[in-house]
Amino acid sequence: MDNKIRKAIIPAGGLGTRFLPATKAQPKEMLPLIDKPAIQYIVEEAVRSGIESIIIVSGRHKRAIEDHFDKSVELEAELEARNNETMLSIVKDISQLADIYYVRQKEPLGLGHAVLCSRRFIADDPFAVLLGDDILVSDPPCLRQMMDVYEETQSSVVAVMEVPWDQTHKYGIVDIGDNDDKVSRVLDIVEKPAPGQAPSNLAVVGRYVLDPAIFGLLAVAKPGKGGEIQLTDSLQELNRIKPLTALNFDGKRHDVGDKLGFVQATIDFALEREDLSADVKKYLRERLAQE
Ligand code: UTP
Repeated sequence: MDNKIRKAIIPAGGLGTRFLPATKAQPKEMLPLIDKPAIQYIVEEAVRSGIESIIIVSGRHKRAIEDHFDKSVELEAELEARNNETMLSIVKDISQLADIYYVRQKEPLGLGHAVLCSRRFIADDPFAVLLGDDILVSDPPCLRQMMDVYEETQSSVVAVMEVPWDQTHKYGIVDIGDNDDKVSRVLDIVEKPAPGQAPSNLAVVGRYVLDPAIFGLLAVAKPGKGGEIQLTDSLQELNRIKPLTALNFDGKRHDVGDKLGFVQATIDFALEREDLSADVKKYLRERLAQE
């Protein structure tokens, strides 16, 4: 077994029901924040963290993801003919970002099932999982911070952050006892605890570094919350046989799988862009003055 994390899984086989009708015929992972699809931010985080190969778990209506990371011969020729060097280099860079593979999840049976679909590709190596719903802004990238913890502890790692107590029922929640260290041993992990039942307000965000032993557990996992094979349930099992560590990561999280989170991320990113910031600020001030 290799002890360095070189491979990552990006599950993108979900239905994206919260974004219907936009996701009826296109993947939610391709919805753009300004001018870049959400999944490209995720691939870039993986690459900046040192990941060498990525497997994207896709499903129906997900062809646009493959096309996005592929070379576009016609578009490149057209941009070259028009001497549009800036766009040409942006377009070329995308297809050279990383070594990307694809596997189809034939039915959206849950995140745990999507991860299991990549078993052959990952084989017996530790690996990363990055969810497209969470765009994390931090330096170093969240996944890099987690890989450093893995390389030191050799234990699976989940990234966590504090959420308001009245929101804990929307997340996987970890119990780390009285510990308030940045890196702590997970005592327990539960998927979407009922209101008032959460052991803490530390929510798992969409980044995982996992021991391949998780596959054996996922293969026999029964459907959990929502009738889906939940990754969190198998993490709870894994924690009984191999230690699981939580990293309270430094950085900002945008929940772009949620409509409000998506709008907030769009505004934040626009305010940080040199070409847009001044105009967007002016517009927002004028618009809010009319309220
Ligand atoms: P979500 O439950 O947030 O995604 O799963 P969803 O099902 O696409 O969206 P909604 O809730 O219906 O709006 C988290 C991640 O797991 C992937 C999703 O693509 C998303 O990146 N996933 C989920 C799969 O790959 N397969 C599944 O069967 C379920």
